Amino acid sequence: MRKKEGSMSEGLVWLNGEILDFASAKVSVEDRGFQFGDGVYEVVRVYQGKPFALMEHLERLQRSAREIELPLPLSLAELAAAAESLIARAGIAEAELYVQLTRGAARRNHLFPPDTPPTLVMTVRPVRLIPPELRERGIRVLTVPDERWARCDIKSICLLPNVLAKERAHRAGAFEALFVRDGLVMEGTSSNVFAWTGEELVTPIADHRILSGITRSFVLQLARQHGYRTAECDLPLAELRSAREVIIAGTVTELLAVIAIDEEPVGEGKPGPIFRQLYAAYRQMIAERVR
Ligand code: PDD
Repeated sequence: MRKKEGSMSEGLVWLNGEILDFASAKVSVEDRGFQFGDGVYEVVRVYQGKPFALMEHLERLQRSAREIELPLPLSLAELAAAAESLIARAGIAEAELYVQLTRGAARRNHLFPPDTPPTLVMTVRPVRLIPPELRERGIRVLTVPDERWARCDIKSICLLPNVLAKERAHRAGAFEALFVRDGLVMEGTSSNVFAWTGEELVTPIADHRILSGITRSFVLQLARQHGYRTAECDLPLAELRSAREVIIAGTVTELLAVIAIDEEPVGEGKPGPIFRQLYAAYRQMIAERVR
C-alpha cells in the first residue's frame, strides 16, 4: 500500500483492487462518473467495525447497475469480501463505507465506450455522526419541489437536485429537505419519510419515484413487529402536515423525528413515542446483527 499522508484512522480507499490512502487514490479526468455522472453508488454504515446490512446494499447496487446496463466487475461475494477487508484494514469502529461504480474512463462521448473497464471505488471514513441533540430534540425539514428525473429508484451518482435541496434546507435552518411531486411527499435528499397518523405508519410506495431505502424496509418491519399498522401508499403533503409524528430514516441518519415542516410544528413539536420506540428497536436490531 502506498501511503503519503494521513493516518489509517482517517480512512482508506479501494480503487480497482488496490488499497490506497486518500491522497494517493486518483481517478482519470475522463472518468464517466466525473464527466457524465454515469454511475451508481451505495452507502453502508459500519458499527463496531462491522458493516450493517452489507448484502442488502450490494444487492441494491447490483440492481442499480443492471438498470443502467453497467455490469458489476466482481461477484457480490467478491465485493463483500473486498469491502470487509477494507473495513478491517481501515480499523475505524464507527464508519461509513462508500461504494461507487462508474462506466470507466474514456474519451468524452455520450455513447457507451466499448471495451472500457468500469471504475470501482470504495472508501471507508469515520461516520458523520448525527449530533445527539438532534436525536433528542428532533429536526426541522423544508419542503421543495421534486425536480429530479423519473428513475429515483436507481441509486445514481447524479445527485445535483439532492445537493441543491439539502443546501436550501440548511440555509433555511432545516436539517433535511423533502421532495414534493404533484402534492405528494416523496422522500428526503438522503432519507425516506414516514407519517404516523394515529392509526397507521404511512410511507410512500417504493416505485420509480423514490429510492427503496434499506432503513425504510427495517422501519416497516420493526413497526409491524411492534403491532403497528403500516401502509405503503401516496402521502399527500397535507397528510404529512397533520400527522401526529413524522420520521425520516436512512443509513447515516438512522431515524430522526421531524418536529417542524416549513416552520409549522408537527404534532406536539417534539419527538413522539412512536419515534422513540422505533429508534430503540432499530438500535437493538443493529446490536444483535453486528454482535
Ligand atoms: N442515501 N432516499 C434517498 C434519495 C437516498 O439517497 C437515501 C440514502 C435514502 C435512504 O436509503 P437507505 O436507508 O438505504 O440508506 C432514501 C445515502 C445514505 C446517501 O446518499 O448518503
